[in-house]
Amino acid sequence: MKLLEERILRDGKVPSDDILKVDMFLNHQIDVGLLNEIGKEFYRLFQSAHINKILTIEASGIGIACIAAQYFSVPVVFAKKGAHRNVGGNLYTSEVFSFTKNKSYLIGVSKDYLGPEDHVLIIDDFLANGRALIGLKDILDQAGAKLEGIGIVIEKGFQPGGKLIRSMGIHLESLAIVESMQNGAVTFALQDC
Ligand code: G4P
Repeated sequence: MKLLEERILRDGKVPSDDILKVDMFLNHQIDVGLLNEIGKEFYRLFQSAHINKILTIEASGIGIACIAAQYFSVPVVFAKKGAHRNVGGNLYTSEVFSFTKNKSYLIGVSKDYLGPEDHVLIIDDFLANGRALIGLKDILDQAGAKLEGIGIVIEKGFQPGGKLIRSMGIHLESLAIVESMQNGAVTFALQDC
């Protein structure tokens, strides 16, 4: 997505060779106009998939998912971090290991909001190692819901998450794929659009 790539080049910061900071428009201050274009693009890419729910994970995924949801006219469910395992309780839970933070955390979604009738699009801001997505997929599997696709704003193509998710046969669309960030210079993978 050209507009997003231009914005990353203009306002993104690269504090190290593997971290891209986009606090200026996505992760802290939010450019709602840009999010609106992102939402429209997700709709263009997934409109034929008959989605009835969007699933994301707190915190940064929520705003993106909510704006996209307006195009799909579906509700958003977000997984909460720091859930407690409650065996037999009213919660689906899954453990996620974050390489960035070097620790595991539990995510949870109430059984009231996901079930076998659901056709779900997962939306998130970043794809790095893919652990958060695997946790969300695990929750959908527990619910018997169908994963129709995954929409990501920024994929770090030099980390293994994208390859892992695509190798599972999941329909993954990333609006910008960063190929490298060596010495602060961001380059993108070529994509059809
Ligand atoms: P993974 O889910 O793909 O395995 O990613 P990982 O554990 O490595 O990432 C953990 C957190 O760091 C996630 O946010 C993810 O979105 C974010 N992240 C990963 N790489 C980058 C990056 O280069 N830039 C930025 N800005 N974020 C990155 P989180 O802390 O769990 O969530 P949130 O509360 O910020 O939404």
